[in-house]
Amino acid sequence: MRAAAPGPCVLVIFGASGDLTRRKLIPALYDLFQRRQMPDRFAILGVSRSPMGNDAFREHLREWAAKFAHSHSDEAWRAFADRVHYCAADAAEPGAFAAIGAGIERAGERHACASSILFYLAVAPQLYLPIIDNIAASGLVTEGKRWCSINTETLPWQRIIVEKPFGVDLESARTLNRALGRTFEEESIYRIDHYLGKELVQNLLVLRFANTIFEPLWNRRYIDHVQITAAEEVGVESRGAFYDEAGAVRDMIQSHLLQVLALAAMEPPARYEDTAIRREKIKVTEAIRVVSPQEASARCAMGQYGAGPRSDKSYREARGVAPGSETETFAAIRFDIDNWRWSGVPFFVRTGKAMARKLTEVALTFRQPPIELFSTLREAHPSCGSRPPNRLIINIQPEEGISLRFEGKVPGEMRIESVKLDFDYVARFGGEPIEAYGPLILDAMRGDQTLFKHRDEVEGAWSAVMPFLDPALRRGIAGNYRAGSWGPRESEILLARSGCSWHNPGIEETR
Ligand code: BG6
Repeated sequence: MRAAAPGPCVLVIFGASGDLTRRKLIPALYDLFQRRQMPDRFAILGVSRSPMGNDAFREHLREWAAKFAHSHSDEAWRAFADRVHYCAADAAEPGAFAAIGAGIERAGERHACASSILFYLAVAPQLYLPIIDNIAASGLVTEGKRWCSINTETLPWQRIIVEKPFGVDLESARTLNRALGRTFEEESIYRIDHYLGKELVQNLLVLRFANTIFEPLWNRRYIDHVQITAAEEVGVESRGAFYDEAGAVRDMIQSHLLQVLALAAMEPPARYEDTAIRREKIKVTEAIRVVSPQEASARCAMGQYGAGPRSDKSYREARGVAPGSETETFAAIRFDIDNWRWSGVPFFVRTGKAMARKLTEVALTFRQPPIELFSTLREAHPSCGSRPPNRLIINIQPEEGISLRFEGKVPGEMRIESVKLDFDYVARFGGEPIEAYGPLILDAMRGDQTLFKHRDEVEGAWSAVMPFLDPALRRGIAGNYRAGSWGPRESEILLARSGCSWHNPGIEETR
């Protein structure tokens, strides 16, 4: 991980009038600017088809920035907006790059940050390929010269941030990687995943590798199974049309949750440095067993919410969703990692919309002690019978923290109860949660790829989920769980087959 200051550059956002730009990117950049974390010299050039000038674009962004940034004042906004420019162009059309190139040059000269460019693809995924091809043809990317020069640090750079969804399957992801690779070096491609910008996801590395007590236990000898959950209370809301094409496996598991799995399962990297960390994550994705289509059905449970306490409308009734849709809004998959550390330890990954509560966590359940020493006292003291195993929970959101469950003796009597060590991130460190996008964009400006996905990770994750995309696994799932529940019964059965059960905390329970 490089500690370098972010370099001067022009950030070119394709999809400038879209939702991602106004809700996430601009508020995040505006926050960074107010905290003086942006480079001294930078400019933003928004590109989209909507006809408008600089002033109208700034005005359009102002209300969103005021609403979604952590702080706002007219003075700060004026100073920030002065760096924001706009170019009305259809970047998917080859002819558009004359105007875009001129816009980059003007903005760069005005703010003394010309030459280095950070492209951001915040557009609909079908536009990725034409835009990448047009960037290539525009001559704006001079990668070859940079990598062959004697001192690569002194030459301008061009990088690209690519949003998810990164392809819809393995083949389309490969096609996209090849298109990117024809123009950019892998070192200049930033496949963004906002989960990697979450504090507790990064804290997984600190927990594992800045302490001695966890790592010796972090393997097949002591861990029985691992659960990774990302449950959301909300349904598909206004995103029905997009979601109906994607489904939970593509939307959450292939992207975010297999990244969390990789961080939880990777070997210690040789250095705290982007290439070393990514190398270890790649090895995990390569070791995930790719099961046959026949094996897939015994290893997953798919669901689609019906009406329930969380929503009076079923998924099929949501706007944009096809009437007879069999898209899954819930998926639980058992992954196996075939390496020395994890052989035989199931990793259960689940995600769902319209679930009982919002919860994103990694839960490691340890093996039982080799003998039940206290079971001889069971008759006199029933609590001395079989006890729940130790469990370590890393809560990523909403109550960021870590807890460890173990068994303790009740004072004054021979009774055993489960107790918890509980670390609450906000109570200990305070502070507001930081919007993941800001720090990730700064990392891209610095040239730090630690929290971005390598080509091989993306393709490895697609290979692992491909068997679970088979439509046959989704037949008849409509309404198989009620909005506001923990998912379909099949999901419980999936775990029960391995002698496990999901950690489904009650509303009051934090971790
Ligand atoms: C997005 C998915 O990538 O992540 C959404 O497309 C999902 O469907 C969102 O709601 C979840 O993100 P978070 O940060 O709220 O867990």
